[in-house]
Amino acid sequence: MTVSINAKDLVKNYGNIRVVDGISFSAGRGDVVGFLGPNGAGKTTTMRMLTGFLLPDAGSVDICEINLHTKPQDAKSRIGYLPEGAPLYGDMTVLDFLRYTGAVRKIRASQLKIQVDDVINRIQLDSVVDKRIDNLSKGYKRRVGIAQAILHDPEILIMDEPTDGLDPSQKIEVRQLIREMAADKVIILSTHILEEVEAVCNRVVIIAGGKLLTDKSPGELIQDHQNSLEVAFLELIKGQQART
Ligand SMILES: Nc1ncnc2c1ncn2[C@@H]1O[C@H](COP(=O)(O)OP(=O)(O)OP(=O)(O)O)[C@@H](O)[C@H]1O
Ligand SMILES: [Mg+2]
Repeated sequence: MTVSINAKDLVKNYGNIRVVDGISFSAGRGDVVGFLGPNGAGKTTTMRMLTGFLLPDAGSVDICEINLHTKPQDAKSRIGYLPEGAPLYGDMTVLDFLRYTGAVRKIRASQLKIQVDDVINRIQLDSVVDKRIDNLSKGYKRRVGIAQAILHDPEILIMDEPTDGLDPSQKIEVRQLIREMAADKVIILSTHILEEVEAVCNRVVIIAGGKLLTDKSPGELIQDHQNSLEVAFLELIKGQQART
């Protein structure tokens, strides 16, 4: 099976505002793609369409060569998704939530315990497994979100600001985890931290005003803009604003 994601001409309108305006890109096994862009650029909306949580008004998504719209169950089984914000089901304990997520993902009971234990260990959730999700701190809620996204070892992992709200050592741990998982997956993440892109991504996709402005390696982007990712980001965003 090919580990890949293909998005073609994605469009989303809210009322008469076009918030995603013809975004296309592809990624394959080993790619870690960082979505960068100002607030309101359309990153979350694009990610929600890539995961099948939001139906595009136009365009298509293929997950491992399976069409997300005609075969949603098959395609979605290969996706792990960390949405923006906190996980749902705040009245469940962390352990119950992870078991529930595994059951929904149809992981066999014998395998489920092993995978839940593994993810608790990897994301360092041991101290909170019996706490209700609602009562966790922001960073721990984020960690639970990451745990549910990787529980079934998906080929395609889409994470909306995975390190938002984490303490510095957890940020480092999560970046390390992303690097470890990258080899046999496609990972797409959004972030507002430029150094994070340099630390984990081999591709940078800059989105502004619902459009994809660039899709390059961090090295190429930096080289093209005075050896600085900051300069690259600011120049590209300014260019987009000048055009609109
Ligand atoms: N359900 C909705 N109804 C109406 N407008 C929406 C809805 N969801 C998003 N938008 C609008 O779509 C645009 C893109 O939002 P989106 O959340 O995709 O941006 P983003 O790039 O993820 O921003 P941030 O960096 O702040 O997370 C924004 O103008 C937002 O207000
Ligand atoms: Mg967002």
